[in-house]
Amino acid sequence: MPTTQAREITAASRLEHVRYAIRDLACYADEVAKQGHKILPLNIGDPNVFDFVTPPHMIEAVYKAMREGKNGYAPSQGVKEALDAIRGESTRKGISSLQDVFVTTGVSETVDLCLTALVNPGENLLTPSPDYPMYSAVLAKLGIGLNTYDLNEEDGWQPELDDIKRKITPRTRGIVLINPNNPTGSVCTRKMLENIAELARGHNLVIFADEIYDKLVLDGENGECIAMASVAPDVPLVTFGGLSKNYLAPGWRIGWGIVSGDPAAVKPYNEGIQKLLRARLCANHPEQYAIKAALEGPQDHLIEVRKKLRTRRDLTVKWANSTPRVSCVSPRGAFYAYPCIDIPEGDDIFVRELILQKHVMVVHGSGFGQKPGTKHFRIVFLPDEQTLSRAYAAIAELLQERYR
Ligand SMILES: Cc1ncc(COP(=O)(O)O)c(C=O)c1O
Repeated sequence: MPTTQAREITAASRLEHVRYAIRDLACYADEVAKQGHKILPLNIGDPNVFDFVTPPHMIEAVYKAMREGKNGYAPSQGVKEALDAIRGESTRKGISSLQDVFVTTGVSETVDLCLTALVNPGENLLTPSPDYPMYSAVLAKLGIGLNTYDLNEEDGWQPELDDIKRKITPRTRGIVLINPNNPTGSVCTRKMLENIAELARGHNLVIFADEIYDKLVLDGENGECIAMASVAPDVPLVTFGGLSKNYLAPGWRIGWGIVSGDPAAVKPYNEGIQKLLRARLCANHPEQYAIKAALEGPQDHLIEVRKKLRTRRDLTVKWANSTPRVSCVSPRGAFYAYPCIDIPEGDDIFVRELILQKHVMVVHGSGFGQKPGTKHFRIVFLPDEQTLSRAYAAIAELLQERYR
């Protein structure tokens, strides 16, 4: 029998700053669920929780791959059929300086690998504020401090160029651009992309273009956004894409990276990415066979998805802008709205009370980073109109009861 008392095993100190507000709220939801109440989840961007289903031809492709024995490890970079389909997609996106493509376990892994392969301790990476919090979580894990640039609410949440210029230091290695944006739903103008490309060119920055929502543009003609890499063919750039959002299969955990730019400039960095790809063996194997089916098969579901999202977006913005203490820039893409709230306490407290008292779950703006003094919350407007209306009535009720 052991005679010494077991000592507490502490987690590594580098985890101290790792946060992921979207899922960190789960403890309040659990409390409410234990009391027998059903939560209205407007917090997680998972279309499959609502009335969106994975296109059947993609399911068939995975099923066929499994039946045909594609159940062992895959090549580290990805299976040939998937890589070819991603190359085809790059051409359709207008990326003329393609250097390499690779498949990952969701864009989450693309982000982790690409950031790890680039940034050394003491260097920094520009990330937007507000931000999709996975970027700051990965940087925290790597021991890299945050260097955020503002998205400007008064300018429809477009990146603030002067702020980007101010924040570039000799140790800045790259810039993250999420377009269409999570959490604000903004979509960058061509002019903005050109201006950011110019800054990257002038300061030798790598651009990470997170375009995971690129086929969910709700205004405009073809429902797609302009690819950053098509505007900046000479700039070292990795475009992120995947099956989670456009193709309604987040649980399959399939993402990819498209490396583009001047070949000599990106070569050593791409070798670093490849090294990390090998070190983690491979992405999910059978699910990779859905990539060709998704990118080259029927795209009809996208028309339906955008139609639903447009109606739900309009309902959300109409509600927000007619509710006292709330105002909202209309989102142009993805499925998030990021209303501003005028309340005398922290938005985290408001969100906690909303969960506990009204059983509606949104995410507080402070979980994404925001300009000091401002308060927001992020809504996922994926649920049907009836569910959204119920949630919005409950939010208005809490605002009225708490701050009248
Ligand atoms: C901007 C952005 N990038 C990446 C991801 C992660 O995507 P994946 O499911 O492919 O890991 C998300 C998920 O919500 C996202 O919003």
